[in-house]
Amino acid sequence: MKILSLRLRDFRGYEALEFRPGEGTNLIHGKNGAGKTNLLEAVYALSLGQGFRGEEDTALIRYGAKGAYLEARIEEGGHRHRLSLYLGKDGKKGAIDGKAITRLSDLRGYLNTVLFLPSDVALFKGSPAARRAFLDLSIGKQYPDYLRGLNAYGKVLKDRNALLKAEDPDELAIATLTEELVALGEPLERRRKEYVAEMAIALGKIAAYLYGEKRKVALIYHPFVEEGDYREVALNYYRNSLASDREKGMTGDGLHREDFRVLLDGKDLATYGSQGENRLMAIALKLSPYPLVNEEEKKPVVLLDDVMAELDDRHRHRLMALLAKMKQAFITATNDIVGLTGTRFHIENHQIGGK
Ligand SMILES: Nc1ncnc2c1ncn2[C@@H]1O[C@H](COP(=O)(O)OP(=O)(O)O)[C@@H](O)[C@H]1O
Ligand SMILES: [Mg+2]
Repeated sequence: MKILSLRLRDFRGYEALEFRPGEGTNLIHGKNGAGKTNLLEAVYALSLGQGFRGEEDTALIRYGAKGAYLEARIEEGGHRHRLSLYLGKDGKKGAIDGKAITRLSDLRGYLNTVLFLPSDVALFKGSPAARRAFLDLSIGKQYPDYLRGLNAYGKVLKDRNALLKAEDPDELAIATLTEELVALGEPLERRRKEYVAEMAIALGKIAAYLYGEKRKVALIYHPFVEEGDYREVALNYYRNSLASDREKGMTGDGLHREDFRVLLDGKDLATYGSQGENRLMAIALKLSPYPLVNEEEKKPVVLLDDVMAELDDRHRHRLMALLAKMKQAFITATNDIVGLTGTRFHIENHQIGGK
């Protein structure tokens, strides 16, 4: 898929913007504070109905304005669509081809993105929650059922935790919720295992390409149920941990505590990897959903914020060569990037111009 045009009103620092990106790589360069990251965030918001970091939606509305309006014309498989999103002080509304949608998650079916932010360098060293969120988002974009299942799981988990905290909880109610938790968890776990196995292969290929030399990359996933029948193992686990769960007042383990890590040449990246290795691997990981989308027309739009800044020349060139294979990418930088093939835009005070 690709974006033909983008239109913003009162989004972040943008009072009004009309932007026509090209196919292939779009380099957006300009000084700090010019609006580069905000532009990527606008594209991201149109694909997911929300900003980058789970901030309040009102943070996206330009200071002093009543609401923000975002619109993109996109093309996918020869079909054109118009996606729009209105963020108001008391809620948001989305529309596709002028028709209001009830679920903003419908947007992602029309505009899918992969995103790298400078803060992703800390992904491997950081909290498991961030890695899980990335995994869940990636799977959810490809499999809407997964997202629905995950939401249902989250609700049951919350109810179960509430009961575990209660003074004198109804044992039968806990047992019922435990059954539900396990029933909902089983297909989610199966999906995660399948997806992670594919992602591991994609990650290995992209990382090898970016490093430009043979390095051994392993993605190690830690599932809640390592082996055996999910239902049986999980129910057994919850039976045995009921006392400790009640003591803690929460469900100590499960699908919601899973994690993964990456080994580079057999060593844990989070513990032993250099900053540069972490950066390159984070880029590779964030790009790994791209090859997993099989249909050429559904390939995600690639958003890379300030990705070149800390890379040496050799790795810059590797990354540029990789980007050249992608349908449409947006990449930001403070300066022009020599040798980059693509369309260049200069941005200043939230205004965009050519070159
Ligand atoms: N809701 C908002 N209303 C107006 N300006 C905003 C809003 N949110 C962020 N900004 C402004 O956007 C600027 C940062 O833009 P950003 O895209 O992050 O710059 P950069 O080009 O460095 O990536 C800041 O100057 C900030 O004040
Ligand atoms: Mg920025």
